[in-house]
Amino acid sequence: MLWRNRLFVLMALVYALVGGLIGVAVATVPGALSPEAPLAHAHLMLVGFVGMMIFGIGLHVLPRFSGRPLYSERLADVQFALMNAGLITICIGWLAPVASIVPIGGAGIWGGFLLFATNVALTIRPWARR
Ligand code: HEM
Ligand code: HEM
Repeated sequence: MLWRNRLFVLMALVYALVGGLIGVAVATVPGALSPEAPLAHAHLMLVGFVGMMIFGIGLHVLPRFSGRPLYSERLADVQFALMNAGLITICIGWLAPVASIVPIGGAGIWGGFLLFATNVALTIRPWARR
């Protein structure tokens, strides 16, 4: 398994722990965190834990299952950087809170999704017969 894919899985575990901790904090000490902390919790769990786990496993497994090499390892490296920087930025924006950086983080995450979609589509190429 490539180092970057291992890092995707590792980051998924980190986000699960941090996101879970925010969930526990929101539940136990209402009002202690920013009113937008539930959004940070939700995205750390969904984009962070679920998403990063899917990216790490998907980038390893999909080329093997489809019998084709990943279209671009470089694109996946850039996706890793964009998604992590984006998720951390959007969560700081919600937790601090600093509303102005939320759309910047959001654009980073969306850019990462775009790269993942492009990379996977060009790898599995369902429109090509073989
Ligand atoms: C350690 C485990 C978890 C704890 C303690 C926890 C706790 C919470 C709490 C207290 C809320 C309500 C926040 C509010 O007052 O609005 C919440 C909302 C939510 N949680 Fe969790 N949660 C956990 C795991 C998860 C997981 C695994 C996921 C998804 C993969 C998840 C997704 C969500 C979503 C989508 C919301 C709604 C956020 C919103 O209202 O904007 N949570 N969670
Ligand atoms: C491009 C990436 C994303 C951006 C920029 C983004 C942005 C946002 C924003 C700004 C909100 C707050 C909406 C409001 O003001 O009520 C929100 C809510 C939410 N998002 Fe995302 N999101 C993204 C990806 C995702 C993904 C991938 C998931 C799930 C897998 C997700 C699940 C949710 C949920 C569950 C809520 C809470 C809805 C609610 O309780 O009102 N988001 N998102």
